Amino acid sequence: MVFSTIVVTSALKGALGLVGTSLWLIPLLIAGLSYYRYDQLDPESRPIDRYPLYPEYDFVVVGAGSAGAVVANRLSEVPKWNVLLLEAGPDENEVTDVPSLAAYLQLTKLDWKYKTEPTGRACLAMNGGRCNWPRGKVLGGSSVLNYMLYVRGNKHDYDHWESMGNPGWGYDQALYYFKKSEDNRNPYLQRSKYHSTGGYLTVQESPWKTPLVVAFVQAGTEMGYENRDINGEQQTGFMIAQGTIRRGSRCSTAKAFLRPVRLRRNIHTAMNSHVTRVLIDPLTMRATGVEFVRDGRRQIVRARKEVILSAGAINSPQILMLSGIGPKEHLRHVGIPVIKDLRVGDNLQDHVAMGGLTFLIDKPVAIVQDRLQAAPVTMHYVANGRGPMTTLGGVEGYAFVNTKYANLSIDYPDIQLHMAPASINSDGGVQVKKVLGITDQVYDTVYRPIANKDAWTIMPLLLRPRSRGTIRLRSSNPFHSPLINANYFADSMDIATLVEGAKIAMKVSEARVFKQFGTRVHRIKLPGCRHLKFASDAYWECHIRHISMTIYHPVGTTKMGPASDPTAVVDPRLRVHGIAGLRVIDASIMPTICSGNTNAPVIMIGEKGADLVKSDWLAIETKR
Ligand SMILES: Cc1cc2nc3c(=O)[nH]c(=O)nc-3n(C[C@H](O)[C@H](O)[C@H](O)COP(=O)(O)OP(=O)(O)OC[C@H]3O[C@@H](n4cnc5c(N)ncnc54)[C@H](O)[C@@H]3O)c2cc1C
Ligand SMILES: *[C@@H]1O[C@H](CO)[C@@H](O)[C@H](O)[C@H]1NC(C)=O
Repeated sequence: MVFSTIVVTSALKGALGLVGTSLWLIPLLIAGLSYYRYDQLDPESRPIDRYPLYPEYDFVVVGAGSAGAVVANRLSEVPKWNVLLLEAGPDENEVTDVPSLAAYLQLTKLDWKYKTEPTGRACLAMNGGRCNWPRGKVLGGSSVLNYMLYVRGNKHDYDHWESMGNPGWGYDQALYYFKKSEDNRNPYLQRSKYHSTGGYLTVQESPWKTPLVVAFVQAGTEMGYENRDINGEQQTGFMIAQGTIRRGSRCSTAKAFLRPVRLRRNIHTAMNSHVTRVLIDPLTMRATGVEFVRDGRRQIVRARKEVILSAGAINSPQILMLSGIGPKEHLRHVGIPVIKDLRVGDNLQDHVAMGGLTFLIDKPVAIVQDRLQAAPVTMHYVANGRGPMTTLGGVEGYAFVNTKYANLSIDYPDIQLHMAPASINSDGGVQVKKVLGITDQVYDTVYRPIANKDAWTIMPLLLRPRSRGTIRLRSSNPFHSPLINANYFADSMDIATLVEGAKIAMKVSEARVFKQFGTRVHRIKLPGCRHLKFASDAYWECHIRHISMTIYHPVGTTKMGPASDPTAVVDPRLRVHGIAGLRVIDASIMPTICSGNTNAPVIMIGEKGADLVKSDWLAIETKR
C-alpha cells in the first residue's frame, strides 16, 4: 500500500502538471491512498484511449463533457452505427475522484484556465479586474471540475423555452429525460414521482454533514420557507444538497456514461485530440468531418452522417467561428472566410454570485484546512468512502428564495443561496484565493486577519440575469483562448436583485438557530468599499461588484430557436441553421439560462439531443 502510494503520487504530479511543492503533498497522499481503495472496491475501469482511428465514422462527437459523454453513449446503443468521441484533455485521475478536492483541479492542466475581459463593473477585487472561468479539459469535461450539486432548474424555464418556438422542450419532456439518466440512492426520494433509479448517473447526499447545514435548513423554516426537494413539485425552499456522487466519490459523466460502455466495439474514444475546425463543403453547405491535432499531428476524420459539437458554451461557439459560422463582421475582422452568418457567441449568460460574505462562529464545526486534512479523516475516506472528504466541493446546502422583485403568483424564485461550512479565509489563502483570483491587497486586508478561523458562508446568486455577454475569437488561431465578455451587471436590475439576495443571506445568518454557534458577520470592509456604511444597500452593491463570483454556468452561446428568430443558431432539433450534418448538443443551446446549477440540465440536453439524432436517422434508414 505504501509502495502504491508513492508510485501513484509521482504519477499524479505528472497527471496534474504540478510543481512538487509541499503544499500539494497532502492532497497527493490522499489521492494515492484513495487509488488504493479505488483499486479494491470500484469495479469500473477506464475508457480506452483509442489508436489508430478509422478515417471515417457515422458520427463524430467533439468534446466528452457533461453532454458529449451522454451523446456518445446513447448513439452507440445502435449497433450498426459507429461513433468517434474526440476530447482535447486526458483521462480523469485519482484526485478528480475526491469530492472535497474539487477546487484543487482549477488552474491545473485539467482546466482550460479562461478569464473574463475586464469591464470595470464587476470582478473588481480580482487581479486585473478579470474573473477566472474554469472549464474542464478532461474526459468528463466540466463534470470533473464541478462541485457536483444536482439541481434541475425550474419548470417554468423549460415551458418558457417551448413557448419561444421550441416544441418538445417543455417541462414534461425535460422531466422524462432527467429521470432517464438518474439513479437516485436516497430512499426518501426514490418514492417520489420526480425521481428514478436504475439510470447511469448516481445521485445522492454526501454521507457527511456539519451541524451548520442542519441549522441552515432550519433557518429557512424559521423564515417561513419549506424544507423540500427543490427538484420536485415546487422549487422555492431549503434543502441539504443532492450531488452526483457514488459511494462517496465523484460521479462524473465519464464515470457514469463512458466507463460502463468502454467495451462496445462501435465507440472509439480519442483523448488529447484538440479539434481545430469543422470541415464544411461550401457548395453543399454540409459538414463532412473535422480537423484535429493529436500528439502534435494535424489530421482529419470524416463523418458519414453528422458532426456533433459538445465542446461546451465557450468552445462550441469558438469551433463554429473557426469554421466560418458566426457573425460575418467579426469573422471578416479576424480573417476567416464566412460560410454562414449566424449570431454565434452572442446571448452568453452565467450565474454570478456574491462571494466572500463570511460568518464567524465560536464552535469548531466548520471546515478548516488544518483539521480537514488530518490523517484520521483521510483514512476514514479511504477505508469507508465517508467523512468530510465526501463534501460536495464544500457546498452542503442550497435554497431558492424570493426577493421583492420576484413574481409571487408563481413558484419562480429569483435568487439561489449556496451554503458552505467554510469561507475564503478557511484555507489560510492557499487555494480559494488563488482560484478566485483575489488580489493580495483584498485578501490581506479582509481575510488574512481571520485566516483558518471557523467560518461559514452563503453565496447568493442571481438566477435569471438580464445582462447578456459574448464569446469572440481573439484571432484565427484555434489555440488562442477566445475573448469572454461576461458583461455582468450591464443591466441595473441584475445588481439590484442581487443586493436583495445579500440581504436575505444576512437574514438567514441572523436566524435564532444560528445563535448556538455564536454566528456573526465578519465586518472588515473591502478596501474599495470603505467609504460606504457596512451592510447598507450601497455597501452590498460595492461588495458584489468586487467579489463577483461566477458559479461556473456559462450557457446560451448557440441559442436554440426557430428559423424565424434571427438570433437563433440551432433549430429545436439542435441542427445548425443552414448547415446540413451539424448539430450542437451542450450548454450552448439554452435560449435562456435555467434557474439552478447547469450540470443536470446539460445531461438532460444530451439525453434529449441523442434521441433527436436517433429519431431523425432511424426514420431515414427505415424509408430506404
Ligand atoms: C468549477 C465548476 C464548478 C461547477 N459546479 C457545478 C455544480 O456544482 N453543479 C452543477 O450542476 N454544475 C456545476 N458546474 C457547471 C457544469 O459542470 C457545466 O454546466 C457542465 O459541465 C457543462 O457541460 P457541457 O457539456 O456543456 O461542457 P463541458 O462539460 O465543459 O464539456 C466540454 C468538453 O469539450 C472539450 N473540448 C472543448 N473544446 C474542444 C476542442 N476544441 N477539441 C476537443 N475537445 C474540446 C472539453 O475539454 C470538455 O471536455 C460547474 C462548473 C465548473 C467549471
Ligand atoms: C406573474 O406571473 C403570472 C402567471 O404567469 C403572470 O400572468 C403575470 O403577468 C406575472 N406578473 C408579473 C409582474 O410579471
